[in-house]
Amino acid sequence: DLIKKQDILKLKENDAIREGASLLQKGEVVAFPTETVYGLGADATSESAVKKIFKAKGRPRDNPLIVHIGEMDQLYDIIKNPLSDTTRRLIKHFWPGPLTLIFEKKETIPGVTTAGLESVAVRFPDNPVARALIGLSSVPVAAPSANLSGSPSPTRAEHVFKDLKGRIPFIIDGGPSSVGVESTVIDIRSGNPVILRPGGVTREEIAEVTGFSPENPDNEDRKKPLSPGMKYRHYSPRTPLYLIEIRDFDKIRDVGEKYKGYNLALVITSETDMVLKESLKSFSTTGIKKVVIGSRNDFKKIAACMFDILRNLDTDNIDLIFFETIPEKGLGEAIMNRLAKAATGKIVVE
Ligand code: TXA
Ligand code: MG
Repeated sequence: DLIKKQDILKLKENDAIREGASLLQKGEVVAFPTETVYGLGADATSESAVKKIFKAKGRPRDNPLIVHIGEMDQLYDIIKNPLSDTTRRLIKHFWPGPLTLIFEKKETIPGVTTAGLESVAVRFPDNPVARALIGLSSVPVAAPSANLSGSPSPTRAEHVFKDLKGRIPFIIDGGPSSVGVESTVIDIRSGNPVILRPGGVTREEIAEVTGFSPENPDNEDRKKPLSPGMKYRHYSPRTPLYLIEIRDFDKIRDVGEKYKGYNLALVITSETDMVLKESLKSFSTTGIKKVVIGSRNDFKKIAACMFDILRNLDTDNIDLIFFETIPEKGLGEAIMNRLAKAATGKIVVE
């Protein structure tokens, strides 16, 4: 951590970070890198600044924002109650990092930031540029992902530029995001961790640290979804995306037959690629663009490239994207959560 602090101090001398911090202090919005995805930040304590985020993204006003801090002390300016033991443990293990926690908010955070909720979601990102920016601005920074509402999340500065050019004054380019999926949002106010959104910290890791196996929100007897953002269509390329689960590789030919004439993009794991190499030869490979995402067990790699792939395939010369499913364990849970929300449907080849 010492080395990191040094890095952050050096980064604070960086012109782009200084300019970004000064814009945040003036109530402007700034796009910046985090380890999960790029964020579109504004002073979380300023109503007028936070409104600019909603406007730039076209984000529904009833979807609350995560408030980002750059050091632990900032937490106590935002939240009401002392930390529980479980919360302390989670913070100790996962902050800074891709974990967002829900707390009761103080008055310093206005209702626009939390979409009228009395709770506030807080995250301490582990990206040195993000930390330097928040530290230098010395305000808590409300930041959703820096994409147009509904489109795939931005994991590179170019993605932000493509979505938001002309709508925001400043983007800090910190290179590609290392994690590639958003933070895990959990609510532990009742004692047991409830996962409102799976993300960069896995269910298994949370269970290990807290000693509780995390629950899923039971949406049935709840009128308001716990994490309001989860009800919206999300992460979608304009090109229709289908999940494809291949149980019987011999049947893949039928899929080829059925979609003859379409320009298909086929996103598959390297294991599937090995098996399919032979069968793919049997149907006309013209019109099929194959993207191999790496081993089906290398969740980290898949998470890091997933949104970039969705964006790259979202071009006029592709009619349909097929994305192979992976197991929903570990980081695979967050990956499949995003893909399922982005997808129009699912095809099982059996
Ligand atoms: O990794 C991340 O979390 C990224 C980076 C930029 O930090 N941010 C991000 O923000 O993903 P956004 O706005 O795209 O997603 C925030 C999620 C939404 O599902 C929202 O509904 C939920 O967090 N959320 C925010 N405040 C909440 C609250 N008080 N209670 C329940 N859910 C909340
Ligand atoms: Mg988002």
